[in-house]
Amino acid sequence: MQSRTVSELLSQDIVIKEVEIKGWVRTFRANRFIALNDGSTINNIQCVVDFEKFDEALLKRITTGAAIHIKGELVESQGKGQNVEIQVNELVILGDSDPETYPIQPKKHSFEFLRENAHLRTRTNTFSAVMRLRSALSFAIHKYFNDNGFYYMHAPIITGSDAEGAGEMFKVTSLDFNKLPLDESGKVDHSEDFFGKETNLTVSGQLEAETYAMSLGKVYTFGPTFRAENSNTSRHLAEFWMIEPEVAFMDLAGNMDLAEDFMKFVISYVLQNNREDLEFLDKRLHDEEKGKPQAERSDMTLIEKLNFVNDNHFKRVSYTEAIDILRNSKPNKKKKFKYLIDEWGTDLQSEHERFLVEKHFKCPVILFDYPANIKAFYMRLNDDGKTVRAMDILFPGIGEIVGGAQREERLDVLKQKMAAINIPEEELWWYLDLRKYGTAVHSGFGLGFERLVMFVTGMSNIRDVIPYPRTPQNAEF
Ligand code: 4AD
Ligand code: MG
Repeated sequence: MQSRTVSELLSQDIVIKEVEIKGWVRTFRANRFIALNDGSTINNIQCVVDFEKFDEALLKRITTGAAIHIKGELVESQGKGQNVEIQVNELVILGDSDPETYPIQPKKHSFEFLRENAHLRTRTNTFSAVMRLRSALSFAIHKYFNDNGFYYMHAPIITGSDAEGAGEMFKVTSLDFNKLPLDESGKVDHSEDFFGKETNLTVSGQLEAETYAMSLGKVYTFGPTFRAENSNTSRHLAEFWMIEPEVAFMDLAGNMDLAEDFMKFVISYVLQNNREDLEFLDKRLHDEEKGKPQAERSDMTLIEKLNFVNDNHFKRVSYTEAIDILRNSKPNKKKKFKYLIDEWGTDLQSEHERFLVEKHFKCPVILFDYPANIKAFYMRLNDDGKTVRAMDILFPGIGEIVGGAQREERLDVLKQKMAAINIPEEELWWYLDLRKYGTAVHSGFGLGFERLVMFVTGMSNIRDVIPYPRTPQNAEF
């Protein structure tokens, strides 16, 4: 007899009779009905115990959270909402779970409470669905790039360069922190940090990916990245995963096409392959929405939103056009924007981004050609001398989900841009080499993986779409 998953058993026509299964008890009702889950599906399988056949002491140990091993017979179910159930012949308790102390009771828990119990929260329907979708999305991402001739590149985690030039890096030291030497002015001397070199955790694998694009043609990274920004928002983490494709001989328009095609592929992949989990989350969100005032309710369900993104072109709008739209709009009749866009050249705040996507265009938007002074040093300067070939993709309910650009491929212009913001050439000599030897137009982008998972699952806090969120107040696990 082969051990099977709940998912396999529930999709069986009863050709097999004798079955064996292991999982965790969700509930045990009337000393008779066990709802068993093993993580393979949102659904539980009902296991029916004839209590007269079993020891009372054993029955008492069938509690929520206990791990059990069952052998029995798969039969047609009399109950509603399930085709099959198991008539239990043998039952072994693999691991007890004390009902007095087990935190995950069979009732609704707040997400805050579950965050404090992140090690057990995937035993709930919502979190198991979210994490199965996270896994499926990772697979779809690799599949897309593999099917389209990209090579997967592992960028270093410990690095000497600040890819974004924004100074938001976590330092890495190989020394005992309390024994770091002090310099003449009494400050910690970081020059000894990593075996004698100053290093940090990577903020982005882009610069290294560029070196590989300029030899292998089409590459992508998919790994953890770190930002030491002290932002306590529902969209920022100190450790998040980023997908960064980089392609030689591709310009900004090609970059936009790639990003749109890629995002539509991964979304349709889960629409096709993860229907049960999406339907569960769709319903969860619908119930949550019912509690909100009418004006704040979304006019689309989760699945409708995913289909909408797939079926519509992402609207492409230049920064300059966007500023004009924002200047001439009020987010609602009475109020103006909290942060006003006074001048061309200021960065958009998230309220502006969300207005453009959710109120004005009502679809995903690709903003491009940003002012050079608000974007990173490596972006390709346009002929106007003021704007760069940057692009950000904004999604409804999320805001910025992708940031990318055509890269500056001209050695002299890149050197000038680095000098203007005091990046020493010695620090990025290898990056400059790419412009000395066989330089060419190339482009890429970074997709924030957790923001994608938020969009697909409808979860509203980024801490709820990554197993162990790292934020300024949270590194418990
Ligand atoms: O816009 P960002 O900073 O761009 C880069 O890092 C480029 N080097 C990418 C590239 O061109 N290869 O970050 C890219 C995306 C953002 O659009 C956002 O989705 C996500 O990464 N992101 C974060 N996600 C969670 N927490 C944070 N603190 C994030 N910072 C950026
Ligand atoms: Mg960005």
